[in-house]
Amino acid sequence: MAADIREMSPIVKVRGLVRRFTLKGVLNGVDLDIRKGEFVALLGRSGSGKSTLLRALADLDREAVGSGEIVVPERLSVVFQDARLLPWKRVLDNVKLGLTGPDADVRARCALEDVELGGREASWPSELSGGEQQRVALARSLVREPEFLLADEPFGALDALTRIRMHELVRRLAARRRPAVLLVTHDVDEAIALADRAIVLDDGRVRADIPIAPLPLEPSLRETRRAALRSTLLELLGVGQDGGPLEPPAEPVDGAALRVLASSRPSPIVQLRLGTGEEVFG
Ligand SMILES: Nc1ncnc2c1ncn2[C@@H]1O[C@H](COP(=O)(O)OP(=O)(O)O)[C@@H](O)[C@H]1O
Ligand SMILES: [Mg+2]
Repeated sequence: MAADIREMSPIVKVRGLVRRFTLKGVLNGVDLDIRKGEFVALLGRSGSGKSTLLRALADLDREAVGSGEIVVPERLSVVFQDARLLPWKRVLDNVKLGLTGPDADVRARCALEDVELGGREASWPSELSGGEQQRVALARSLVREPEFLLADEPFGALDALTRIRMHELVRRLAARRRPAVLLVTHDVDEAIALADRAIVLDDGRVRADIPIAPLPLEPSLRETRRAALRSTLLELLGVGQDGGPLEPPAEPVDGAALRVLASSRPSPIVQLRLGTGEEVFG
C-alpha cells in the first residue's frame, strides 16, 4: 500500500505553518504532505502543538495567530477524545446530524453497521459505553465520506481492551474507505498498529518522518521491525522503553533494520527509510 501511495500527489499540503497564542510560538514552521488514502500518526510530547496543528488543519483555531499555507480537501471530518454526542438525540439522529438528501437515513444506518452498532439506532447516548459512544462519533464522521479524517487522541479515554478493538475497526474502515487520516496519539504502539507513517512534532516543527507500513509479513521479522520502530519513536519522544525519561542521546537503534540518519539538534526533518538504504533530509 505504501509504495503506490508515495506516487500520488498530496491532498493535504502544509507549508511554513506558524501558530502562537502568546509571544512564544507553538508551531514554528510546520511542513507536511499527506496523500490520498495515507494514514499518518502525529506524535509529540504533551504541549508540543499536536492539537494546535490538527485544529489549524480543520480551521478550528480562530483564537490562534500565525501564518503559512494550508491546503486540505473540502470534505473533512474531525473526531475528538470525547464523543461529543448530543444527549437529547438518539444514536441514529446523532449520526444523521446535518446530513441532507433522501438517502440520509440509509447512509446513517449503514455507517452504524460499519462501526458494529447496527440495532442501537434508537438508543440514547447515555445508554452506551464510552467505546460505543466513540464508535457513534466515528460513524458520524464516516457517514460524510471525508477525504480527510482528523482524529485527536480519539481512543485516549478508552480502556486498553476497548482501544485494541477500536484499532481493528479503524484499520478495517480506513482500508475500505481510504480517507487520508491524521491521527494524533501519544501512544507509540497505536501509531505502529495503525499508521503508514509517523511524524514527530518537536520545538514547533516536524522533527521526524518515519515510514511504518508495510511491515514484513513474516512474524519474527515483523516483530523485529516493530521493536525497532518502537525504540526509535520513544527515543524521539525522549522516553525510555520503561516509560522513564531517556538518558544520553542514544546510539542508532537497530543498525540492520533502520538507520537514524541525523539526531543532533537543531535539525532538519529526519526521514528514515526502513531497510531501503535511502536517506532524505528535508
Ligand atoms: N487556546 C489556547 N490559548 C492559549 N494557549 C494555548 C491554547 N491552546 C493551546 N495552547 C498552548 O499551546 C501549546 C500546545 O498545545 P497543544 O497543541 O494542545 O499541545 P498537544 O496537543 O501537543 O498536547 C501548549 O503550551 C498550550 O498551553
Ligand atoms: Mg492535544
